[in-house]
Amino acid sequence: MVMVETSNLTKKYSNTTVVDNLNLKIEEGQIYGFLGPNGAGKTTTILMLLGLTRPTSGFASINGLNSTHEALKVKRISGYIPEKVGFYNDLSARYNLLYTANLNGVFDEKAETAVNQALADVGLKDKSDELVAHFSKGMKQRLAIADILIKQPRVAFLDEPTSGIDPAGITQILDLIAEIARNKNMTIVMSSHQLSQIQRICSHVGILSKGKLISEGSIQELSKKAGEGKVAIEVQLAEITPDIIENIKTVKGILSVDQNENTLTLTCSDDLRREISKAISDKGGLITQMQLQSYALEDIYLKMIKGA
Ligand SMILES: Nc1ncnc2c1ncn2[C@@H]1O[C@H](COP(=O)(O)OP(=O)(O)OP(=O)(O)O)[C@@H](O)[C@H]1O
Ligand SMILES: [Mg+2]
Repeated sequence: MVMVETSNLTKKYSNTTVVDNLNLKIEEGQIYGFLGPNGAGKTTTILMLLGLTRPTSGFASINGLNSTHEALKVKRISGYIPEKVGFYNDLSARYNLLYTANLNGVFDEKAETAVNQALADVGLKDKSDELVAHFSKGMKQRLAIADILIKQPRVAFLDEPTSGIDPAGITQILDLIAEIARNKNMTIVMSSHQLSQIQRICSHVGILSKGKLISEGSIQELSKKAGEGKVAIEVQLAEITPDIIENIKTVKGILSVDQNENTLTLTCSDDLRREISKAISDKGGLITQMQLQSYALEDIYLKMIKGA
């Protein structure tokens, strides 16, 4: 079942198109990673999905509800952690969550129980009665996740949930998000500009660049598509001469040759290690090391963005 959908979703600010004919379909239960560099349009898309900004054209919907025309209903089934999480700083973590519980029609003992559980789930039990003003960024982010646990939405939008958090904290938060998606059957859309984070927990990813979706699919599909048939081979030589380089370039299937001191990085259409060895030894070159490198998804992502 499609939980999140956009159809030719477009947003323009004066004459600039910041989201450009976006067509997305996110299935229920997916953890979907919205990947793109700064300014790609991730936040703007999320805001349109939540009914917080109107599209210039096209539409967004959540669980079949139009985000613009049925914004209230959409907000009822959606959770949102914005880029800058906002809490009442002069209230404790517990009171902030009780407030959310009350807003969602849960009161008294039921609210207390839900709040205690959520605080325990995100590892903030010991900090329940501290003022949010004294919380670190990571703690605030956990509290925002606890807030989502109280609300229990069908779908949660997390806009860069790990920004400004230290590496150990990032791992904890990502794992927490994955656990919630699993245990609460929540659809999660998370934005990030770091592929490694998306890769850790997302089942699917959409790469956004300059407002356009430039690639989409499961992580596996994506790496296959982008790396299609290409192989990188790194060769270390005792010495590199122009002759050697020219001879390598004559090998059929060599796409590029980059030199860095005594190392050559070759992109090829195939595993051409034998042919390359021959081309090098034919010119009297001595190979000290040679290895096949698979394309890391990170390289692919960077390449895609550059090419877009
Ligand atoms: N209210 C606004 N008025 C004018 N331009 C805006 C507005 N909001 C966003 N933009 C522009 O739209 C583009 C996309 O911004 P958006 O915040 O959606 O990107 P993003 O992918 O979330 O980036 P980041 O990774 O930096 O959060 C940017 O060029 C931004 O300057
Ligand atoms: Mg953003």
